Amino acid sequence: MAHTVLFVDDEVNILKAVKRMLRHEPWEVVCASRPHEALEILDTTPAQVVVSDQRMPDMSGVDLLAAVRERHPDVVRMMLTGYTEMNVAVEAINRGEIFRLITKPWNDEELKATLRQAFDHFDMKGEIKRLNLVTREQNFKLQDMNRNLEHKVRDRTKQLAEKHSELRTAYIQTIRALAEAVDAKDSYTRGHSERVGVYSSKIAREIGLPRELIERVYIAGLLHDVGKIGVRDAVITKPDRLTDEEYDEIKQHPEIGAKILEPVSFLSDVVECVRHHHEWFDGSDRGYPDRLKADSIPLPSRVILVADTVEAMTSDRPYRKGLDLDTVLEELHKFSGTQFDPAVADACLRLLEAEGDSFIKKDQKFDIYEFLEV
Ligand SMILES: [Fe+2]
Repeated sequence: MAHTVLFVDDEVNILKAVKRMLRHEPWEVVCASRPHEALEILDTTPAQVVVSDQRMPDMSGVDLLAAVRERHPDVVRMMLTGYTEMNVAVEAINRGEIFRLITKPWNDEELKATLRQAFDHFDMKGEIKRLNLVTREQNFKLQDMNRNLEHKVRDRTKQLAEKHSELRTAYIQTIRALAEAVDAKDSYTRGHSERVGVYSSKIAREIGLPRELIERVYIAGLLHDVGKIGVRDAVITKPDRLTDEEYDEIKQHPEIGAKILEPVSFLSDVVECVRHHHEWFDGSDRGYPDRLKADSIPLPSRVILVADTVEAMTSDRPYRKGLDLDTVLEELHKFSGTQFDPAVADACLRLLEAEGDSFIKKDQKFDIYEFLEV
């Protein structure tokens, strides 16, 4: 931007001298011999610096510069004054009306340097103003962006949580459908898998397993007999005693189940639990398929075996009614340490004693994720 300075003095000779002195400077020099003229010029000509004489006939320099300050607060104001007017000028400075005071007679180089400083001062103030504006604008924009971001993050988090919950529900529903398909092969086992899942979860929590393992126990419980899909219906539903061959066929189901689940990557933790749910804790040949012993049997499998036994004993069969709780308690005691892991059998006994018949209620509603929250 071109730099313009306005000189105001009632002595035309002084104005001429100033013009001459500044003719080689890169500044526009505008002159006014009366204060009112100066104000008119300022309204139409953008000047950055005004230099005024103090003693003028119709208005003092202090008053003129006060008027300039009022109308054009950014314009840098300076005063040219003789020694006798010093008191007025000093007061003007102290009131903050002017930037510099120049005494008459002036030194040319000093006056030029002072003008240069005045233009720099003007430019710097303008730049600070501009930067403040930019900063403020950017702050507003940033605040806006932050607000938008917060909204977006909140929305996305909510959406993700909803999707997660939907997926989890779909996951459990799919597994349940599979379990129900197995139970449907025999009208006497309807709901068996779901109940084994429920009992297993309760036992798992009773022995203090972490959430993740309780969830795995539940899912493995739902799927423990999935291998029965590969066993002939005639064998599964046979009301009479099974022949050795038929019993051997039934005994295949843990391995068939493991094979069915193997390709499903999100069930990889469950495969071993299903495979070993008929192993005996003592490692005897009554267990199958691998005659694993004690701790080498996955803990979920040991839990499922107890839950499976309790469920089977308390359900009606074609050849008998469901057994009562006392008989179940007896059986658990009797086979604790041989068929059952004593720690698991004890946990189940504690639950049966505490909850009685409500533990084995057949139509209980169960949501594993609600259960895990408690
Ligand atoms: Fe089984």
